[in-house]
Amino acid sequence: MKALVVYESMYGNTSQIAQAITAGLRVSVDAKLSPVGDAKTIDVSDVQLVVVGAPTHAWGLSRRRTREVAANEIAKRSDQRIAAASVATGVREWLRGLTRQEGRCGAAFDTRLDRPRFFTGSAVRTVERGLVAAGFSIFAEPQSFRVGGTTGPLASGEIERARAWGEAMGRTLAQPAGAERPERAAS
Ligand SMILES: Cc1cc2nc3c(=O)[nH]c(=O)nc-3n(C[C@H](O)[C@H](O)[C@H](O)COP(=O)(O)O)c2cc1C
Repeated sequence: MKALVVYESMYGNTSQIAQAITAGLRVSVDAKLSPVGDAKTIDVSDVQLVVVGAPTHAWGLSRRRTREVAANEIAKRSDQRIAAASVATGVREWLRGLTRQEGRCGAAFDTRLDRPRFFTGSAVRTVERGLVAAGFSIFAEPQSFRVGGTTGPLASGEIERARAWGEAMGRTLAQPAGAERPERAAS
């Protein structure tokens, strides 16, 4: 496996983006998709690129208490129950728990409301900082994908943009060793 996409999602929008990025990567390379709760069980020994994404909560990367708010809202509105493990462990906690990575690349994405960033904040810089702190080299410009409201849906064209981003990263990854690579893949 060359690439691994790890995501956190309460309402399913970040999950849809993660699926589209994975589909794009798979045009050129072997790629696996994993919710953050399952990511620690995956063998990453041959993974060159880890793409990590999460929803924006409270102007930044989600925390246990913001995931609790979302889980309670979901329980109020439907029969669906968010597993306690998904509330306890998000991308923030997963990144902190990673052992030091050597020679691996990372790329970050988030979802956020479809308004100017000044109003919405964004999780993506915290995700990227977490990747760097864990030893990853940054492979591509971080990306934010927009949702129309807290529960979605994704804004028009975002699935296609996510797939194209995955494709661009996959093409760069698939270049033979020694080929000239841009510092950051086109996004
Ligand atoms: C507790 C909570 C706080 C949120 N705060 C923000 C915010 O500060 N900025 C923003 O753009 N979106 C915010 N949102 C909306 C989320 O970005 C949106 O629910 C998310 O992108 C949907 O992704 P998901 O379907 O994968 O959970 C918040 C959502 C929740 C549940």
